[in-house]
Amino acid sequence: MRAHVLTYGCQMNEYDTHTIQSELVSGGHQMVDHPNDANLIILNTCAVRGKPVEKVISVLGEFRKDKRNGRDLTVALMGCLAQLEEGQDIADKFGVDILLGPGAITDILPAVDAIEAGKEHFRSLEFKSDLETYITPAPDSLTGFLTIMRGCNHHCTYCIVPTTRGPEVSRPVDVIMQEAEAMQKAGIQEIYLLGQNVNSYGLGEAHLPSFAELLKEVASTGIPRVKFTTSHPMNFTSDIIDAIAETPNICNFIHLPVQSGSDRVLKRMAREYGRERYLNIIREIREKVDDVVISTDIIVGFPGETEEDFEMTMSLYEEVAYEHAYMFIYSARPGTPSYKHFDDMPKTVKTERLQRLIERQKELSYRANNRYVGRDLRVLVKEMAQKGDYVMGHSDQNHTVLVPKEQISRMGLYDVRIESATPHTLYGTVKGFKSSSIPLMMV
Ligand code: SAH
Ligand code: SF4
Ligand code: F3S
Repeated sequence: MRAHVLTYGCQMNEYDTHTIQSELVSGGHQMVDHPNDANLIILNTCAVRGKPVEKVISVLGEFRKDKRNGRDLTVALMGCLAQLEEGQDIADKFGVDILLGPGAITDILPAVDAIEAGKEHFRSLEFKSDLETYITPAPDSLTGFLTIMRGCNHHCTYCIVPTTRGPEVSRPVDVIMQEAEAMQKAGIQEIYLLGQNVNSYGLGEAHLPSFAELLKEVASTGIPRVKFTTSHPMNFTSDIIDAIAETPNICNFIHLPVQSGSDRVLKRMAREYGRERYLNIIREIREKVDDVVISTDIIVGFPGETEEDFEMTMSLYEEVAYEHAYMFIYSARPGTPSYKHFDDMPKTVKTERLQRLIERQKELSYRANNRYVGRDLRVLVKEMAQKGDYVMGHSDQNHTVLVPKEQISRMGLYDVRIESATPHTLYGTVKGFKSSSIPLMMV
């Protein structure tokens, strides 16, 4: 078939999309660049908040219309939404042909075969163990995602992920290293190790290394950059900080979601740490790791969050001075404990608090970014920027950096002198070329 995958959600979904694509190609199907040219459209979905679900519903509505107008089209709903009752109801309503949960993505070929053989539907919600040893080939890119573990054993009361992705399973280290080495051979410059909670890699499994050991092992391939996401404060141990401080190619960039600055809210979220423990980790990181950039996730307007609780989040901001933050309004997700037990608060209150937080973050990010003006950063230039005359890349510490297009002939690693800063972007000029593998015109 002529297939196209639409990907929503986090980087783990992007990695999974790459697995789905390689399965389809190995089964003799062809990937097409535009959904209009496809007769198999796969939606790899996210269910973490209401918004990505609404987006999927609207896209499915379009495809149902196309089908009713006679278009020959097979539609597959995959990923996190597919795993939920909510997703199964949506699939029924919109006449979805294939439904595969995030643990069953390797069923894509049997599913397509079944539909081609005339079967009306194919569904699988299994968490298949073959996924843990499945070798996904290196992507044709300068950054490679590498999932090291699946699922989540935490029970944050707002979060649907443990339901969609099941319990934690760490992938075998030899499989991870095989993928990392293939990426290095393919010229990839940056490996992103992925998991819902990467710090608990190998926990309780004597035959597996700890996350800090795994980080160092991946770094020993000599790949220029190793990054990872997401960390959970509960499992963020000193050996991880030491590994980052001691290993040059493990990047000085740590995404450590806090969710709230109030102990009362953290308790209701069941986050398993308090404000003080979190701040101690931040202190240790800033002490040991030079030039480190710390980012976070925040949920604003969790049920029962008082003005005082919110002020605690604001004051935590002052203490940590995050360089960057993803800020979300609480979204009540059916199937989560907080949906069942707590009342949502008025949207106006949530929006107003979010606005205040965004404003403060803007100032902090601007202040932090300004410190880099006049300095040189190593930037992996990867793609054309939306601003026509620039190309876009990321520093070792994950700053977004734009450089004038005419200074670059190939995508790759460059030394860049930072000339100016905005809250979200650094602007620079190229000082020197480090390495690359993809000529600019191919990207
Ligand atoms: N495993 C990671 C991230 C999971 S989802 C972690 O534990 O940090 C990514 C982010 O989405 C979360 O960090 C949280 O900030 C946000 N999120 C999850 N559920 C949400 C909900 N119901 N409403 C709003 N934001 C949510
Ligand atoms: Fe969700 Fe919490 Fe697990 Fe992260 S740690 S995926 S927020 S349950
Ligand atoms: Fe979304 Fe699933 Fe990722 S719910 S954030 S795609 S793990």
